[in-house]
This record gives sequence, structure tokens and C-alpha cells, in this order.
Amino acid sequence: MTLDLFSDPDGCVERLSLGPGASVLRGRALPHADALFAEVCALERHSPFRRMTTAGGHTMSMASTNCGSLGWISDRNGYHYGAIDPETRAPWPPMPALFAHLARDTALEAGFPEFEPDACLINRYLPGAKLSLHQDRDERDFGAPIVTVSLGMDAVFLFGGHVRADKTVRVPLRHGDVVVWGGEDRLRYHGVMAVPDHPHPLLGRQRISLTFRKAG
Ligand code: SIN
Ligand code: FE2
Repeated sequence: MTLDLFSDPDGCVERLSLGPGASVLRGRALPHADALFAEVCALERHSPFRRMTTAGGHTMSMASTNCGSLGWISDRNGYHYGAIDPETRAPWPPMPALFAHLARDTALEAGFPEFEPDACLINRYLPGAKLSLHQDRDERDFGAPIVTVSLGMDAVFLFGGHVRADKTVRVPLRHGDVVVWGGEDRLRYHGVMAVPDHPHPLLGRQRISLTFRKAG
């Protein structure tokens, strides 16, 4: 891992490099955190958080919802994207402009111009929830990067290699941090360790992640 500093319109943001196409932008979303959380609260009134099941019949430990023209869905048929929320039977709510701008700007800062996400997966982790190592490979093409924004309680992101058994680095993620991975790092395994119970001043006992993707 290497550290450097770069300037953006909000000042100096610390960038941690996890690979040629993978960076952590420390605190990059902090100026927008209150507004992002307010958007999540509005979105969940349209499409509530729910714990999805896997093809194997397991219930995921985090709860999820989506916004954007496509939403990521896991059910007994596996993982897929769809325009309709299976719970509400209505389209997923549109992606707020703030979300789309932040995703596009941070992708650009990390070296990926013209990122136009059509899907935002919103995950809510209560204490103890985790996400095991996986690759994001349900998208149509892997040319676009993945952008994740962390809000609320601290977590440890695991960033591995191209094979599940590869060594992982542990990256602490805090409120306002943004991770971008694309290019040759696009298919690296990653996950989130069980989230410790350290309440956050704004969000309380939860961590929320916004994961932006070009799915369709
Ligand atoms: C994901 O890998 O889809 C989400 C990662 C995160 O919660 O930060
Ligand atoms: Fe993922």
C-alpha cells in the first residue's frame, strides 16, 4: 500500500493506493455525509432495506436496498440486476443527483473518467454484520470501476487478489471514506469484516455503504 496526497476542490484528501487501479480516498465524502444520509433515509421509504437470500438459501447478514435504473438482487435464483424492486413491485427509486455526482467525481479523481453509474446498492450493516470475500462480476462489462462510499460505524474492508485464496489487506474504512477499484483491479476479491459495535455520532449503531456500478 502506498500513501500520497492530492488536491481536490474540498481541500487535501489523503489517497491510499491498493493497486494500479484501486484507491481509498480518505474522508472524500465527509462534506456530503449529512446530505447522503438524508437521501438514504428518503430512499428507504420507497424501497425498504431487506435481508436478501442467496441461491444456497442463506440470509445475508447485511440489509440492502437499491436506487438507480438497475438494482442488484440476490434470491434463490442467484445474483442478478433488475429494474423492479421485488418487494414493492415498483421500479427502484431514481439515483439522487448528489449520489451520481459524487460517484462520477471520485471515479475521475481515482483515474476513471466518464463513470456513469446506473446502479447503486445500499447496504446497511448492524453490529456483527459482514460480507464475505467475493468478486463483483454480475455487471455486463468490467470496463467501468466500482465506487463505494462508507457512512456511519467504522469497518474493516478486505481487499484481496484475483483468486479467493490470495492474501488480503485489511483497510480500515471510516465515515466519509470512498474506495474506487477498476482497470486491472476491477475483479479483485473483497469483503467486509464483522462490523464492531462502536456507535457513530450521526448514524448510531449502523454502517451504510453506497456501492456504485455500471451494471447494464
Ligand atoms: C460490496 O462489496 O458490495 C460492498 C462493500 C462495502 O460494504 O463497503
Ligand atoms: Fe462487492
